[in-house]
Amino acid sequence: MNLDQVDLSSALLQLWEEIAETATEGSDQLQLLIHALRHIDTAEPGLPNRAEGVDRLLNSLGAMDHCRRSSEPFNAALKNTGPLLHWYPNSVYENASAAQELENYCCNLVGQASDSQPNPFLLHSEEVMVGLFLLGPNRLYPAHQHPAAEMYAVLAGTAQWMRGDEPWQTRKPGEYFIHASNQAHAMRTLDEPLLALWAWTGDLGQWAEWSDRISAPPALVSECG
Ligand SMILES: [Fe+2]
Repeated sequence: MNLDQVDLSSALLQLWEEIAETATEGSDQLQLLIHALRHIDTAEPGLPNRAEGVDRLLNSLGAMDHCRRSSEPFNAALKNTGPLLHWYPNSVYENASAAQELENYCCNLVGQASDSQPNPFLLHSEEVMVGLFLLGPNRLYPAHQHPAAEMYAVLAGTAQWMRGDEPWQTRKPGEYFIHASNQAHAMRTLDEPLLALWAWTGDLGQWAEWSDRISAPPALVSECG
């Protein structure tokens, strides 16, 4: 593991430990995740890849004022690791062009490649998966579900999020929340992109499936502060 991977691994652990200190939901999953992150000792860097459009979105987020960003130590580690990252159009879509149209890109940080997720992971774990989710402005990421429980930490960009029967909520950088196993969820960006960190625990073998269990999102409302 090179030094940038070590730094990213440490920053990931620190970030989730800080989240666990104040988290009001998902404590069991957070403990599983933190335990796994403490035992990362091998890496499969794979080949770096900058999917078209990723740099433009990240630069746009990097230029935002402080109220749209959080987790500076992790962001710094991520920036140093940037040249190693393998970004790809979200493979949950039927083809790459659909993901590119939505400006929806993913980057696998922790986990292991499989038939359902062939893209490389920067750090190796068989117990959890952690990755980055990037979505362009004014986009809807449709409702979906998966057997794994999913924790999210918003890194940059304020967006609207929905889960289960709850109303759509505006989530800001620094917010943490969990989607339970097979709980349908969706997100919608406003006038800025979204960069979020996700972590899966539980059944990692089945990728997301689209869901019809969530109603259409409300009218767009942008806010920050
Ligand atoms: Fe999800």
